Amino acid sequence: MTMELRERRIGIEALAVQLPRSYLDLGVLARANGTDPAKYYFGLGGRRMAIPSADEDSVVLAVRAAGVLLADRAADVSSIGMVLVGTESGVDAAKPIASYVHRMAGLPSDCRVLDVQHACYGGTGALRLAAAWVLGGARPGRKALVIATDVARYDVGSPGEPTQGAAAVAMLVGEEPRVLELLPYPEAVHAAEVMDFWRPTYRSTALADGHYSMQCYLDALESCWRRFAGATGLGAGAFDYLLYHTPFPKMALKAHRRLCELSPDGPPAGGADADWERRVLPTLWANMEVGNAYSASLFVSLAGLLEHSEIDAAGARLGLFSYGSGSCAEFLAGRVGPDASAWRNRTGLRDALAGRRELTYEAYLRSRRSYEEQGRDGSFRAAAGGAGPAFCGTWNHQRIYRDAAWRSGTGWTSGEERTAEEASPFRAGHASRGAQAGS
Ligand code: HMG
Repeated sequence: MTMELRERRIGIEALAVQLPRSYLDLGVLARANGTDPAKYYFGLGGRRMAIPSADEDSVVLAVRAAGVLLADRAADVSSIGMVLVGTESGVDAAKPIASYVHRMAGLPSDCRVLDVQHACYGGTGALRLAAAWVLGGARPGRKALVIATDVARYDVGSPGEPTQGAAAVAMLVGEEPRVLELLPYPEAVHAAEVMDFWRPTYRSTALADGHYSMQCYLDALESCWRRFAGATGLGAGAFDYLLYHTPFPKMALKAHRRLCELSPDGPPAGGADADWERRVLPTLWANMEVGNAYSASLFVSLAGLLEHSEIDAAGARLGLFSYGSGSCAEFLAGRVGPDASAWRNRTGLRDALAGRRELTYEAYLRSRRSYEEQGRDGSFRAAAGGAGPAFCGTWNHQRIYRDAAWRSGTGWTSGEERTAEEASPFRAGHASRGAQAGS
């Protein structure tokens, strides 16, 4: 990196979170599974997990997050020159989620549009690539829209089941990083091909070698941290808060213990666990509500810190660890912008949490059965609920989404909302168009 680039600031200018409309309490799941609820609540550290309905796939969550971001007048849509979606919940082997986002958010056609995949690292990878693109200056004045969107799903009754979840976090990346400036330290990354967690293309649920995956996560953390500390001379004490990729909150505790063991500035006063309560726990309250959101998890923690009711994170120095199974990982550093408190109640996180409805165990099973239909044979049709974008089903092997008219700065315009029935792609006009396109 040249001196000139180092002097320019880069990072996240604005951020918006969207969640599924429903959740399952982990105590309800534990009782249904014949497990002591204390294992899920305290052994894993979760409280609830977000459960998407059949009409809320990873595309819909991403489009909704982009909608909240842009409705907040965070950016003029014509200033966006790149859309990168970090995800491991792709809906098509060829067509990226970014392409749907690009159309539904009404972004300009002179735009680079693609998905970035490496398990939970995809969101961080996309953020880093977007930041490098902005700094590269190929399109002066242009910003990048980065969205991390995922639905975490394991088999019913499997050890991973209490670590499901879903979320999308949209971020505007540019040279006025009011949310988080990425500090220009040397990169501290780690890659190793391991079989710790994976999802074959013929499955809608992930497979994991759970205890091995925790070992791989900690090995990657150690490698990244040694690189970061070696190159910068910094210890863990240099950070006000530490954010770790959070498949379940107890993993962040295990990670923090390891980081403290390795830190050149020695163990923190009072020990690693007390330090975790002070510098990590405040970033985890939203993860405890959402569950694992794969590529979005780290950014749910960032939103949680900004939305923390008792913390003004303005100017805070953050250490962030991103891990993607498979594997690729990175330790990076950032500084929260000076007006952090302005983001309180503005990221969409609190509204999304407040608007959720609780599922019974039976409703959870029905909901996921219906969701999993999507991938079977292309015949799925969802009962699209609510307003705004929704996945309606598949027609002639094409995924059909209910759009809502987008007007810059005003959000999804309710006057132009159509009911699910009106918007149904399966009405005669739509269907014949679909049939031509598909024939
Ligand atoms: P498990 O094997 O059923 O759980 O599933 P366990 O027996 O290891 O128990 C978990 C904890 O609960 C333990 O605490 C127990 O002692 C405690 P620890 O010893 O670890 O501190 N416990 C209790 N506590 C209170 N009261 C009780 C009680 N009983 C037990 N009655 C496992 C755990 C993580 C393996 C499983 O959930 C799983 O397979 N999850 C999916 C994989 C995963 O999340 N891996 C994490 C690292 S990899 C990663 O983060 C990447 C990922 O996000 C994917 C991506 O990159 O895309 C997953």
